Amino acid sequence: MKIAVLHGQNHKGSTWNITRLLLDEMSDKAETVLEFHTNELKPCAGCFTCIARDETLCPHRSAVGPIIDAIEQADVIIAESPNYCMGMSGQMKIFFDHMGYRWMSHRPHPSMKGKTGVAISTTAGIGAAKVTKSIARQMFWWGVAKTYRLSFAVSAMSWENVKSERKARITNRIKRSAKRVIKSVHKAKPGLKSRFIFAVMKTQQKGMSWNPADRKYWEENGWI
Ligand SMILES: Cc1cc2nc3c(=O)[nH]c(=O)nc-3n(C[C@H](O)[C@H](O)[C@H](O)COP(=O)(O)O)c2cc1C
Repeated sequence: MKIAVLHGQNHKGSTWNITRLLLDEMSDKAETVLEFHTNELKPCAGCFTCIARDETLCPHRSAVGPIIDAIEQADVIIAESPNYCMGMSGQMKIFFDHMGYRWMSHRPHPSMKGKTGVAISTTAGIGAAKVTKSIARQMFWWGVAKTYRLSFAVSAMSWENVKSERKARITNRIKRSAKRVIKSVHKAKPGLKSRFIFAVMKTQQKGMSWNPADRKYWEENGWI
């Protein structure tokens, strides 16, 4: 099993440590684990080059390309971010913006429909579930078959300050989740909603006039 990990922050806080717990639980089955930090990425330039022409011409391709390659080769994609003001970190969103061309409405990678996603977030009080939901939404639109959402209220500003009873509960939940994630690898299938949206996009691509790059891609994949 190949795992790609996207860290939505550089520091090793609660979210990073919980992600580490999950990786440790999955380590026996992991063939490779490639980890990426989104902190150094530049924001999307809004040039539409990826969507309308060719993603390799993105002005930030040298930074985002290796991450995208790893994601496309992985069996499991883990994306983690703390809750910042009721949303994912800005740096994580910057990465997701660079994946706009991979949405089902444009050029989804064929391998996504066989992948498992994991969205992880922590919060001091409330809001981590909102973050995992929005990360899972991104993966849904990439065409990822199934995304597990793991959100935790830690009542702390750092992992060191998380109470030991809470850490024990988190660890137990992670152990159970790791088993589920491992079980789903190569078995998860896109749900009804995903298949429906893909069918709608197919109709749209058949009549596509404004974006020949997308249409060509759908034709080359034999989808239209
Ligand atoms: C900029 C910023 C915004 C935050 N916004 C919220 C918030 O809206 N609600 C909340 O309960 N905690 C909020 N927090 C607290 C963090 O979500 C919480 O401490 C989290 O566990 C930090 O994860 P980390 O240790 O991985 O950095 C915020 C923290 C920061 C730094």
